[in-house]
Amino acid sequence: MHTPSLIEKKRDGAELDAEEIESLITAFTRGEVADYQMSAWAMAVFFRGMTPRETQHLTTSMMRSGRVIEYPAGSPPKVDKHSTGGVGDKVSLVLAPLLACDEVWVPMISGRGLGITGGMLDKLESIPGFSVNLDEQRALQQLERIGVFMIGQTADICPADRKLYALRDVTGTVPSQPLIVASIMSKKLAENLDRLVLDVKFGSGAFMKTRREAEQLAASMTEVGELMGVQMSCLLSPMDEPLGRAVGNALEVAECVEILRGGGPPDLITLILDLSEKVSTASRERLAAWLRDGSAWRKFVQLVEAQGGDATALEKMQSVHQAPVIQPFTAPRGGTVRAVNAEAVGRASVLLGGGRQKADDAVDLAVGFSRLKKASEQVENGEPLMFIHARSAADVTSILPLLEKAVQIS
Ligand code: URA
Repeated sequence: MHTPSLIEKKRDGAELDAEEIESLITAFTRGEVADYQMSAWAMAVFFRGMTPRETQHLTTSMMRSGRVIEYPAGSPPKVDKHSTGGVGDKVSLVLAPLLACDEVWVPMISGRGLGITGGMLDKLESIPGFSVNLDEQRALQQLERIGVFMIGQTADICPADRKLYALRDVTGTVPSQPLIVASIMSKKLAENLDRLVLDVKFGSGAFMKTRREAEQLAASMTEVGELMGVQMSCLLSPMDEPLGRAVGNALEVAECVEILRGGGPPDLITLILDLSEKVSTASRERLAAWLRDGSAWRKFVQLVEAQGGDATALEKMQSVHQAPVIQPFTAPRGGTVRAVNAEAVGRASVLLGGGRQKADDAVDLAVGFSRLKKASEQVENGEPLMFIHARSAADVTSILPLLEKAVQIS
Protein backbone atom coordinates (compact mmCIF):
# COMPACT_ATOMS: atom_id res chain seq x y z
CA MET A 1 0.00 0.00 0.00
CA HIS A 2 1.24 3.50 -0.86
CA THR A 3 -0.50 5.90 1.54
CA PRO A 4 0.02 9.12 -0.49
CA SER A 5 -1.69 7.47 -3.48
CA LEU A 6 -4.75 6.59 -1.39
CA ILE A 7 -4.97 10.18 -0.14
CA GLU A 8 -4.66 11.47 -3.72
CA LYS A 9 -7.26 9.00 -5.00
CA LYS A 10 -9.82 10.22 -2.45
CA ARG A 11 -8.81 13.84 -2.99
CA ASP A 12 -9.59 13.39 -6.69
CA GLY A 13 -13.00 11.91 -5.95
CA ALA A 14 -12.39 8.29 -6.97
CA GLU A 15 -13.90 5.30 -5.17
CA LEU A 16 -11.58 3.26 -2.94
CA ASP A 17 -12.08 -0.49 -3.04
CA ALA A 18 -12.49 -2.79 -0.03
CA GLU A 19 -8.85 -3.83 -0.05
CA GLU A 20 -7.56 -0.25 -0.15
CA ILE A 21 -9.76 0.82 2.74
CA GLU A 22 -8.91 -2.26 4.79
CA SER A 23 -5.16 -1.78 4.28
CA LEU A 24 -5.32 1.92 5.11
CA ILE A 25 -7.20 1.25 8.37
CA THR A 26 -4.98 -1.68 9.32
CA ALA A 27 -1.80 0.32 8.70
CA PHE A 28 -3.18 3.36 10.56
CA THR A 29 -4.12 1.19 13.55
CA ARG A 30 -0.60 -0.27 13.61
CA GLY A 31 0.95 3.20 13.57
CA GLU A 32 2.25 2.83 10.00
CA VAL A 33 0.26 5.81 8.68
CA ALA A 34 1.22 9.19 10.14
CA ASP A 35 -1.44 11.26 11.87
CA TYR A 36 -0.93 14.05 9.32
CA GLN A 37 -1.61 11.61 6.46
CA MET A 38 -4.75 10.24 8.09
CA SER A 39 -5.95 13.80 8.79
CA ALA A 40 -5.40 14.71 5.13
CA TRP A 41 -7.31 11.60 4.07
CA ALA A 42 -10.18 12.46 6.45
CA MET A 43 -10.32 15.96 4.95
CA ALA A 44 -10.47 14.43 1.46
CA VAL A 45 -13.40 12.26 2.63
CA PHE A 46 -15.02 15.34 4.15
CA PHE A 47 -14.99 17.12 0.77
CA ARG A 48 -15.48 14.16 -1.58
CA GLY A 49 -17.79 11.95 0.49
CA MET A 50 -17.96 8.18 0.11
CA THR A 51 -20.18 5.81 -1.80
CA PRO A 52 -22.44 3.53 0.30
CA ARG A 53 -20.06 0.68 -0.56
CA GLU A 54 -17.02 2.60 0.70
CA THR A 55 -18.88 3.58 3.89
CA GLN A 56 -19.76 -0.07 4.50
CA HIS A 57 -16.12 -1.15 3.98
CA LEU A 58 -14.82 1.63 6.22
CA THR A 59 -17.25 0.63 8.99
CA THR A 60 -16.37 -3.06 8.87
CA SER A 61 -12.62 -2.36 8.58
CA MET A 62 -12.79 -0.14 11.66
CA MET A 63 -14.87 -2.72 13.52
CA ARG A 64 -12.31 -5.41 12.57
CA SER A 65 -9.39 -3.24 13.73
CA GLY A 66 -10.12 -4.84 17.11
CA ARG A 67 -12.20 -7.62 18.58
CA VAL A 68 -15.95 -8.08 18.41
CA ILE A 69 -17.27 -8.88 21.89
CA GLU A 70 -18.46 -12.46 22.35
CA TYR A 71 -21.04 -13.32 24.97
CA PRO A 72 -21.75 -16.57 26.80
CA ALA A 73 -24.52 -18.70 25.28
CA GLY A 74 -27.96 -17.91 26.67
CA SER A 75 -27.04 -14.42 27.88
CA PRO A 76 -29.75 -11.71 27.89
CA PRO A 77 -30.41 -9.51 24.84
CA LYS A 78 -27.72 -6.87 24.31
CA VAL A 79 -29.10 -3.36 23.74
CA ASP A 80 -27.58 0.10 23.42
CA LYS A 81 -28.10 3.69 22.31
CA HIS A 82 -25.77 6.16 20.60
CA SER A 83 -26.14 9.84 19.82
CA THR A 84 -24.63 11.62 16.85
CA GLY A 85 -23.58 14.34 19.31
CA GLY A 86 -25.03 17.46 20.82
CA VAL A 87 -24.39 20.23 23.32
CA GLY A 88 -25.40 19.25 26.86
CA ASP A 89 -26.23 15.75 25.63
CA LYS A 90 -25.78 13.64 28.73
CA VAL A 91 -28.59 11.15 27.98
CA SER A 92 -26.40 8.01 28.08
CA LEU A 93 -25.36 8.58 31.69
CA VAL A 94 -28.95 8.08 32.80
CA LEU A 95 -30.18 5.81 30.02
CA ALA A 96 -27.52 3.08 30.43
CA PRO A 97 -28.29 2.33 34.11
CA LEU A 98 -32.01 2.78 33.43
CA LEU A 99 -32.01 0.15 30.67
CA ALA A 100 -29.98 -2.17 32.90
CA CYS A 101 -32.86 -2.22 35.42
CA ASP A 102 -34.54 -4.47 32.82
CA GLU A 103 -33.49 -8.02 31.92
CA VAL A 104 -31.01 -6.87 29.26
CA TRP A 105 -27.28 -6.22 29.02
CA VAL A 106 -26.01 -2.75 28.11
CA PRO A 107 -22.42 -2.96 26.80
CA MET A 108 -21.89 0.74 26.06
CA ILE A 109 -18.78 1.92 24.19
CA SER A 110 -18.65 5.73 23.83
CA GLY A 111 -16.25 8.47 22.82
CA ARG A 112 -14.69 11.63 24.17
CA GLY A 113 -15.76 15.17 23.32
CA LEU A 114 -15.96 15.73 19.58
CA GLY A 115 -15.88 19.26 18.12
CA ILE A 116 -18.32 21.41 20.08
CA THR A 117 -20.15 18.41 21.54
CA GLY A 118 -19.28 16.80 24.84
CA GLY A 119 -18.26 13.14 25.16
CA MET A 120 -19.45 10.53 27.59
CA LEU A 121 -15.94 9.42 28.54
CA ASP A 122 -14.85 12.90 29.62
CA LYS A 123 -18.04 13.26 31.67
CA LEU A 124 -17.54 9.88 33.35
CA GLU A 125 -13.94 10.74 34.17
CA SER A 126 -15.13 13.72 36.19
CA ILE A 127 -16.28 11.12 38.76
CA PRO A 128 -13.11 10.64 40.86
CA GLY A 129 -11.52 7.23 40.22
CA PHE A 130 -13.91 6.20 37.41
CA SER A 131 -12.05 4.11 34.82
CA VAL A 132 -13.35 4.03 31.25
CA ASN A 133 -10.74 1.39 30.33
CA LEU A 134 -11.83 -2.15 31.15
CA ASP A 135 -10.43 -5.18 29.42
CA GLU A 136 -12.93 -7.50 27.76
CA GLN A 137 -12.84 -10.09 30.51
CA ARG A 138 -13.56 -7.53 33.24
CA ALA A 139 -16.23 -5.89 31.11
CA LEU A 140 -17.99 -9.24 30.64
CA GLN A 141 -17.81 -10.04 34.34
CA GLN A 142 -19.39 -6.67 35.04
CA LEU A 143 -22.24 -7.41 32.61
CA GLU A 144 -22.87 -10.73 34.38
CA ARG A 145 -22.95 -8.96 37.74
CA ILE A 146 -24.81 -5.69 37.10
CA GLY A 147 -25.87 -5.77 33.42
CA VAL A 148 -24.02 -2.63 32.26
CA PHE A 149 -20.60 -1.17 31.50
CA MET A 150 -19.59 2.18 30.04
CA ILE A 151 -16.15 2.22 28.43
CA GLY A 152 -14.19 3.83 25.61
CA GLN A 153 -12.61 2.38 22.52
CA THR A 154 -9.54 0.38 23.62
CA ALA A 155 -6.42 -1.14 22.09
CA ASP A 156 -8.58 -4.30 21.68
CA ILE A 157 -11.98 -2.85 20.76
CA CYS A 158 -12.23 -0.39 17.87
CA PRO A 159 -8.66 0.98 18.14
CA ALA A 160 -9.02 2.54 14.67
CA ASP A 161 -11.94 4.67 15.85
CA ARG A 162 -10.05 5.62 18.99
CA LYS A 163 -7.24 7.10 16.85
CA LEU A 164 -9.31 8.57 14.02
CA TYR A 165 -11.85 10.09 16.45
CA ALA A 166 -9.06 12.01 18.23
CA LEU A 167 -7.78 13.37 14.90
CA ARG A 168 -11.22 14.34 13.59
CA ASP A 169 -11.95 16.23 16.80
CA VAL A 170 -9.21 18.78 16.08
CA THR A 171 -8.97 18.84 12.28
CA GLY A 172 -12.40 20.12 11.23
CA THR A 173 -13.38 16.70 9.85
CA VAL A 174 -16.16 15.72 12.24
CA PRO A 175 -19.28 16.63 10.21
CA SER A 176 -18.74 14.08 7.44
CA GLN A 177 -21.58 11.58 7.09
CA PRO A 178 -19.44 8.56 6.11
CA LEU A 179 -16.94 9.26 8.91
CA ILE A 180 -19.75 9.58 11.45
CA VAL A 181 -21.44 6.38 10.21
CA ALA A 182 -18.18 4.41 10.39
CA SER A 183 -17.22 5.85 13.78
CA ILE A 184 -20.55 5.14 15.44
CA MET A 185 -21.41 1.86 13.76
CA SER A 186 -17.92 0.31 14.11
CA LYS A 187 -18.18 0.72 17.90
CA LYS A 188 -21.76 -0.51 18.04
CA LEU A 189 -21.06 -3.50 15.78
CA ALA A 190 -18.04 -4.39 17.94
CA GLU A 191 -20.53 -4.59 20.82
CA ASN A 192 -22.33 -7.38 18.95
CA LEU A 193 -25.79 -6.00 19.77
CA ASP A 194 -29.30 -7.32 19.33
CA ARG A 195 -30.97 -3.89 19.38
CA LEU A 196 -29.66 -0.35 18.91
CA VAL A 197 -31.41 3.01 19.04
CA LEU A 198 -29.75 6.03 17.46
CA ASP A 199 -30.41 9.60 18.53
CA VAL A 200 -29.74 11.50 15.31
CA LYS A 201 -29.53 15.19 16.06
CA PHE A 202 -30.10 18.15 13.79
CA GLY A 203 -29.81 21.89 14.37
CA SER A 204 -27.19 24.49 15.23
CA GLY A 205 -25.48 22.41 17.93
CA ALA A 206 -25.44 19.19 15.88
CA PHE A 207 -23.15 18.03 13.10
CA MET A 208 -26.17 17.74 10.80
CA LYS A 209 -27.64 21.21 10.51
CA THR A 210 -30.90 20.21 8.79
CA ARG A 211 -33.51 17.53 9.39
CA ARG A 212 -32.96 16.29 5.84
CA GLU A 213 -29.24 15.66 6.46
CA ALA A 214 -30.13 13.90 9.72
CA GLU A 215 -32.61 11.66 7.84
CA GLN A 216 -29.87 10.70 5.37
CA LEU A 217 -27.44 9.94 8.20
CA ALA A 218 -30.08 7.86 10.01
CA ALA A 219 -30.84 5.89 6.83
CA SER A 220 -27.17 5.21 6.22
CA MET A 221 -26.51 3.97 9.77
CA THR A 222 -29.69 1.88 9.73
CA GLU A 223 -28.62 0.20 6.50
CA VAL A 224 -25.18 -0.69 7.89
CA GLY A 225 -26.66 -1.98 11.17
CA GLU A 226 -29.39 -4.06 9.53
CA LEU A 227 -26.91 -5.61 7.10
CA MET A 228 -25.01 -6.85 10.15
CA GLY A 229 -28.17 -8.26 11.76
CA VAL A 230 -28.86 -5.58 14.39
CA GLN A 231 -32.48 -4.51 15.04
CA MET A 232 -32.23 -0.76 14.46
CA SER A 233 -34.39 2.20 15.45
CA CYS A 234 -33.74 5.93 15.12
CA LEU A 235 -35.11 9.04 16.71
CA LEU A 236 -34.49 12.40 15.05
CA SER A 237 -34.18 15.07 17.73
CA PRO A 238 -33.65 18.84 17.50
CA MET A 239 -30.41 20.36 18.85
CA ASP A 240 -31.02 24.09 18.49
CA GLU A 241 -30.60 24.75 22.20
CA PRO A 242 -28.51 22.78 24.72
CA LEU A 243 -30.20 19.73 26.20
CA GLY A 244 -31.16 20.24 29.85
CA ARG A 245 -29.77 23.15 31.84
CA ALA A 246 -26.07 22.22 32.16
CA VAL A 247 -23.14 22.09 29.74
CA GLY A 248 -19.69 20.92 30.89
CA ASN A 249 -18.34 17.64 32.16
CA ALA A 250 -18.85 17.65 35.95
CA LEU A 251 -21.84 19.99 35.66
CA GLU A 252 -23.58 17.50 33.38
CA VAL A 253 -22.90 14.60 35.74
CA ALA A 254 -24.49 16.70 38.50
CA GLU A 255 -27.58 17.20 36.32
CA CYS A 256 -27.80 13.45 35.67
CA VAL A 257 -27.65 12.79 39.40
CA GLU A 258 -30.61 15.17 39.80
CA ILE A 259 -32.59 13.10 37.29
CA LEU A 260 -31.60 9.82 38.87
CA ARG A 261 -32.75 11.23 42.23
CA GLY A 262 -36.20 11.96 40.78
CA GLY A 263 -35.80 15.59 39.59
CA GLY A 264 -34.13 17.23 36.59
CA PRO A 265 -35.23 19.11 33.47
CA PRO A 266 -38.27 17.76 31.59
CA ASP A 267 -36.74 17.99 28.06
CA LEU A 268 -33.97 15.64 29.10
CA ILE A 269 -36.24 13.20 30.92
CA THR A 270 -38.61 13.02 27.94
CA LEU A 271 -35.75 12.25 25.53
CA ILE A 272 -34.30 9.61 27.86
CA LEU A 273 -37.66 7.84 28.00
CA ASP A 274 -38.32 8.25 24.24
CA LEU A 275 -35.00 6.55 23.46
CA SER A 276 -35.14 3.93 26.21
CA GLU A 277 -38.54 2.61 25.22
CA LYS A 278 -37.29 1.89 21.70
CA VAL A 279 -34.88 -0.82 22.89
CA SER A 280 -36.30 -1.88 26.25
CA THR A 281 -38.87 -4.60 26.73
CA ALA A 282 -40.19 -2.63 29.71
CA SER A 283 -43.02 -0.13 29.14
CA ARG A 284 -42.51 3.64 29.29
CA GLU A 285 -44.44 3.73 32.58
CA ARG A 286 -42.15 1.10 34.08
CA LEU A 287 -39.04 2.94 32.89
CA ALA A 288 -40.35 6.22 34.33
CA ALA A 289 -41.06 4.46 37.63
CA TRP A 290 -37.46 3.10 37.76
CA LEU A 291 -36.25 6.70 37.39
CA ARG A 292 -38.57 7.95 40.14
CA ASP A 293 -38.22 5.15 42.68
CA GLY A 294 -34.41 5.11 42.83
CA SER A 295 -33.86 1.83 40.90
CA ALA A 296 -31.89 3.56 38.12
CA TRP A 297 -29.96 5.59 40.69
CA ARG A 298 -28.94 2.42 42.59
CA LYS A 299 -27.86 0.84 39.29
CA PHE A 300 -25.79 3.95 38.49
CA VAL A 301 -24.08 3.79 41.89
CA GLN A 302 -23.30 0.09 41.26
CA LEU A 303 -21.86 1.01 37.85
CA VAL A 304 -19.70 3.80 39.27
CA GLU A 305 -18.36 1.56 42.03
CA ALA A 306 -17.75 -1.36 39.66
CA GLN A 307 -15.56 0.89 37.51
CA GLY A 308 -13.54 2.23 40.44
CA GLY A 309 -15.43 5.52 40.89
CA ASP A 310 -16.13 7.23 44.19
CA ALA A 311 -19.93 7.14 44.47
CA THR A 312 -19.84 9.46 47.49
CA ALA A 313 -18.69 12.22 45.12
CA LEU A 314 -21.82 11.98 42.97
CA GLU A 315 -24.03 14.23 45.05
CA LYS A 316 -21.35 16.92 45.41
CA MET A 317 -19.90 17.10 41.89
CA GLN A 318 -19.95 20.89 41.87
CA SER A 319 -17.71 21.08 44.91
CA VAL A 320 -15.46 18.22 43.75
CA HIS A 321 -14.84 20.22 40.56
CA GLN A 322 -15.33 23.83 41.46
CA ALA A 323 -14.25 26.33 38.81
CA PRO A 324 -12.29 29.30 40.23
CA VAL A 325 -14.75 31.81 38.74
CA ILE A 326 -18.53 31.33 38.75
CA GLN A 327 -20.36 34.32 37.34
CA PRO A 328 -23.92 34.97 36.19
CA PHE A 329 -24.57 36.01 32.61
CA THR A 330 -27.58 38.28 32.92
CA ALA A 331 -30.48 39.27 30.68
CA PRO A 332 -29.97 42.72 29.08
CA ARG A 333 -33.76 43.23 29.13
CA GLY A 334 -36.90 41.50 30.36
CA GLY A 335 -39.04 39.36 28.03
CA THR A 336 -39.36 35.87 26.61
CA VAL A 337 -36.24 33.85 25.77
CA ARG A 338 -36.58 33.04 22.06
CA ALA A 339 -33.34 31.09 21.53
CA VAL A 340 -30.21 29.89 23.29
CA ASN A 341 -28.03 28.92 20.36
CA ALA A 342 -26.48 25.52 21.05
CA GLU A 343 -23.57 25.97 18.65
CA ALA A 344 -22.47 29.21 20.33
CA VAL A 345 -22.77 27.69 23.80
CA GLY A 346 -20.80 24.62 22.62
CA ARG A 347 -18.07 26.83 21.14
CA ALA A 348 -17.91 28.89 24.30
CA SER A 349 -17.57 25.71 26.35
CA VAL A 350 -14.60 24.54 24.23
CA LEU A 351 -12.99 27.98 24.63
CA LEU A 352 -13.38 27.76 28.41
CA GLY A 353 -11.35 24.53 28.26
CA GLY A 354 -14.20 22.00 28.27
CA GLY A 355 -13.13 20.61 24.86
CA ARG A 356 -9.89 20.07 23.03
CA GLN A 357 -8.11 22.39 20.60
CA LYS A 358 -5.23 19.91 20.05
CA ALA A 359 -5.41 16.11 20.20
CA ASP A 360 -3.34 15.83 23.39
CA ASP A 361 -5.08 18.64 25.31
CA ALA A 362 -6.54 17.72 28.69
CA VAL A 363 -10.11 18.90 29.17
CA ASP A 364 -11.07 20.98 32.18
CA LEU A 365 -13.74 18.99 33.98
CA ALA A 366 -15.06 21.93 36.03
CA VAL A 367 -15.82 24.56 33.40
CA GLY A 368 -19.08 25.13 31.52
CA PHE A 369 -22.54 26.53 32.12
CA SER A 370 -25.24 25.79 34.66
CA ARG A 371 -28.86 26.86 35.24
CA LEU A 372 -29.34 27.73 31.58
CA LYS A 373 -32.64 29.35 30.68
CA LYS A 374 -34.60 27.63 27.90
CA ALA A 375 -36.52 28.98 24.93
CA SER A 376 -40.03 30.28 25.80
CA GLU A 377 -39.14 31.01 29.45
CA GLN A 378 -39.76 34.51 30.85
CA VAL A 379 -36.88 36.54 32.28
CA GLU A 380 -36.61 39.84 34.11
CA ASN A 381 -34.09 42.51 33.20
CA GLY A 382 -30.80 41.58 34.98
CA GLU A 383 -31.89 38.03 35.82
CA PRO A 384 -29.24 35.30 35.23
CA LEU A 385 -29.66 33.54 31.87
CA MET A 386 -26.98 31.08 32.94
CA PHE A 387 -23.98 30.79 35.25
CA ILE A 388 -20.53 30.67 33.65
CA HIS A 389 -17.98 28.37 35.31
CA ALA A 390 -14.50 29.42 34.17
CA ARG A 391 -10.82 29.20 35.01
CA SER A 392 -10.36 32.98 35.06
CA ALA A 393 -12.15 36.30 34.68
CA ALA A 394 -10.26 36.75 31.39
CA ASP A 395 -11.80 33.50 30.06
CA VAL A 396 -15.26 34.82 30.99
CA THR A 397 -14.58 38.07 29.14
CA SER A 398 -13.40 36.18 26.05
CA ILE A 399 -16.66 34.27 25.63
CA LEU A 400 -19.11 37.09 26.38
CA PRO A 401 -19.48 38.15 22.71
CA LEU A 402 -20.47 34.55 21.82
CA LEU A 403 -23.04 34.40 24.61
CA GLU A 404 -24.45 37.82 23.74
CA LYS A 405 -25.18 36.52 20.25
CA ALA A 406 -26.38 33.13 21.50
CA VAL A 407 -29.34 34.34 23.56
CA GLN A 408 -32.30 36.09 21.95
CA ILE A 409 -34.96 37.75 24.08
CA SER A 410 -38.03 39.58 22.79
N1 URA B 1 -20.33 9.85 17.93
C1 URA B 1 -19.32 9.04 17.51
O1 URA B 1 -19.00 8.05 18.16
N2 URA B 1 -18.70 9.35 16.37
C2 URA B 1 -19.01 10.41 15.61
O2 URA B 1 -18.40 10.61 14.59
C3 URA B 1 -20.06 11.26 16.05
C4 URA B 1 -20.70 10.96 17.22
